[in-house]
Amino acid sequence: MTPLVIPVHPAGWRLSVAPMLDWTDKHCRYFHRLLTRRTRLYTEMVTTGALMHGSVRRHLRFDEAEHPLALQLGGSEPRELALAARMGEAWGYDEINLNCGCPSERVQRGAFGACLMAEPRLVAAGVKAMRDAVRIPVTVKHRIGIDRLESYDFVRDFVGTVAEAGCAVFIVHARNAWLQGLSPKENRAVPPLRYEVAYRLKADFPDLTIVVNGGITSPDAIEAHLSRVDGAMLGREVYHRPWQMTQWDQRFYAEAASVACPDAVEAAMVAYMEREARADGTPWYPIARHMLGLRHGQRGARLWRQVWSNHQLKPLPPRAVAAMARLALETESLPS
Ligand SMILES: Cc1cc2nc3c(=O)[nH]c(=O)nc-3n(C[C@H](O)[C@H](O)[C@H](O)COP(=O)(O)O)c2cc1C
Repeated sequence: MTPLVIPVHPAGWRLSVAPMLDWTDKHCRYFHRLLTRRTRLYTEMVTTGALMHGSVRRHLRFDEAEHPLALQLGGSEPRELALAARMGEAWGYDEINLNCGCPSERVQRGAFGACLMAEPRLVAAGVKAMRDAVRIPVTVKHRIGIDRLESYDFVRDFVGTVAEAGCAVFIVHARNAWLQGLSPKENRAVPPLRYEVAYRLKADFPDLTIVVNGGITSPDAIEAHLSRVDGAMLGREVYHRPWQMTQWDQRFYAEAASVACPDAVEAAMVAYMEREARADGTPWYPIARHMLGLRHGQRGARLWRQVWSNHQLKPLPPRAVAAMARLALETESLPS
């Protein structure tokens, strides 16, 4: 088969924040974008079923500021994937990513996620259907194996088959998915990380963009990975300690740093909360929960966090909560 690969610029994938269900919703992504201009952001996984039968607006709405932004899809049926990808393109996403790495039982029952790695031809058919339907890049996020199978040939053949269908970007979560006996959380910690598999994929497929993911926790680690592959994707570390992303534009894209101080970011988030309340009636607390790590390591951060996560303050407008949080930070005591 002749590869249909559209050339992509690997710099577009140099740094990204991982798709995380219940975490990287639109509010979280807006917050992350205040910290880094260049980093690529991903939605939570949206299933094709949710788009066929649920509220498309609820699942796909985002803020223009979020670009570059990828929509991650969960599904396996090529026709539905193509329809969902077309919706994503019409809503203005920059990339469609297919989840071939999620090990949850719910996802396995739907026959997608990590169990798709055992069916590279089905994934290839899905990728081809999406490629035929949209002009934006179609990418795949996957594991390096399933269960205890540690053969490199397995993941190499998966990537080779899917690349032939037109996928030029592979995000490699560098550990196996154990489909039996581990929860999704354990599956992000127990199977050992084997970064060398991602490096070997890059060596074997030099024309593909290979992004490594899993357990990356420092700028030095990012730099080390970038000497071997095209990109690094970080999830939990930057969700809990997001401030480090303010250094990324400068260090990894040779651009000016994005923001000056956490106060300015908090003020921008309060303005965003007010806008969201006016536009959609969204309360402040599902937005604020994503920024609780903003002041990690700063004096008074714990009390500041307590104010922003205090559900008794729900009836107050966000500006009033921000004033209380500021007081807690400055006086290092909780306002009564
Ligand atoms: C709360 C949570 C939800 C996740 N949801 C998704 C998801 O929807 N799609 C996906 O491909 N991976 C999902 N993941 C996996 C992450 O994208 C990533 O591959 C994993 O956390 C390893 O990267 P890290 O060690 O940098 O966190 C999730 C991870 C977490 C912690």
